[in-house]
Amino acid sequence: MKEFERSLEFAKEMDLVDPLAKYRTMFHYPKSVIYFCGNSLGIQPKTARTEIETILKTWEEIGVEGWFHGSSNWLDMSNDLVKSMARIIGAKPEEVSIMNSLTVNLHLLLVSFYRPTPERYRILIEEHTFPSDEYALKSQIRFHGYDVNGSLLEVKAKAGEATLRTEDIIEAIDESFALVLFSGVNYLTGQAFDMEAITKAGHEKGCIIGFDLAHAVGNIPLELHKWNVDFAVFCNYKYLNAGPGGISACFVHERHFEKDLHRFEGWWGGKRESMFLMEPDINPAYGAEGWQVSTHPVLLLASLKAALDIWDQLKDLSLFHQKRELLTGYLEYLIKELGPENYQIITPSKTNERGCQLSIRTLKNGKKLFNTLIERVTVDWREPNIIRVAPHPLYNTFEEVYSFSEILAEVIK
Ligand SMILES: Cc1ncc(COP(=O)(O)O)c(C=O)c1O
Repeated sequence: MKEFERSLEFAKEMDLVDPLAKYRTMFHYPKSVIYFCGNSLGIQPKTARTEIETILKTWEEIGVEGWFHGSSNWLDMSNDLVKSMARIIGAKPEEVSIMNSLTVNLHLLLVSFYRPTPERYRILIEEHTFPSDEYALKSQIRFHGYDVNGSLLEVKAKAGEATLRTEDIIEAIDESFALVLFSGVNYLTGQAFDMEAITKAGHEKGCIIGFDLAHAVGNIPLELHKWNVDFAVFCNYKYLNAGPGGISACFVHERHFEKDLHRFEGWWGGKRESMFLMEPDINPAYGAEGWQVSTHPVLLLASLKAALDIWDQLKDLSLFHQKRELLTGYLEYLIKELGPENYQIITPSKTNERGCQLSIRTLKNGKKLFNTLIERVTVDWREPNIIRVAPHPLYNTFEEVYSFSEILAEVIK
């Protein structure tokens, strides 16, 4: 690979040899802006409309029979999608369940995996945990009759540092923790954690290890089964492009399938073939599917299908990761060239410690800078002073990264 260069020609050359260039044409790319916001909401796959219309047509033509017949029978639709999802997160298909939204799934899995005792009831999280996770965890702690103060502990960055060191995370884990719940990639700083090392260290101390992969799925390489992670939850509307409020998913390691499962149940957690026998006791489905509770939102499954169909075409995920490292690396190179007077990139620069996103901490007039920027580029702002920028390998180009840096330079001036 050539060294990065600050020139339009260089960016165009990179686009010419990009093996993923054709994927951009599979999306409706927003008009008149550069879209670098896949960390918040991915863009629309062109087939999303057709997939949704297929469901509407089946409903129009055969009504309730759509659950069992038609071009895709709705009852099996989520199970038809788990294989694609399993490949992306490094899981076995039976370890994946597509259901609900992220925070709901977190609660459902905490029912099974946060079972505090007087000796072991604490939960370890990272500094800047996504607020919804923190609310969920605090309410679970209270639900079990414990005091949030002293039960929920954070690993913090060292003074003067913006992100966490793996050794500090590992050192913080001890036998008092029932659960360690971390992000795969932190929403604010863009730091990707060493999930394998955290899982191993946590298991050595007898803790359950869960991850919120909202910012990791469809972004960084994941091997949840191999890493022995106990459970994970994630939404699919960010890097996977399943659409606003799209249906989420979860992972449960197969080690947990045969245990006393201790979970909240509903009829969709039962085997599909016996669901309609209407028996008083559930006949649980095998695997993560058993955590399902209620009827699937079929229209949301349709837009998830459109998104996953695109990922299925990408047989070699390493091409995605190579481009991701280059795109984000180029972005970092160009921003750094603008000089550090007005901002600071707080995301780690090691490629295995970040995904698509760079978090830029603004040092002065941050909100003003952001408000001017978003007239031409879709990026987002997180309080108190962070601009998040995330070029996506499936639909962004090196030329856009270059143009973004030119716009940023103009705006700073
Ligand atoms: C890291 C993280 N966790 C949890 C959530 C909450 O997801 P939901 O609203 O789908 O429950 C989000 C939403 O953006 C998120 O970024």
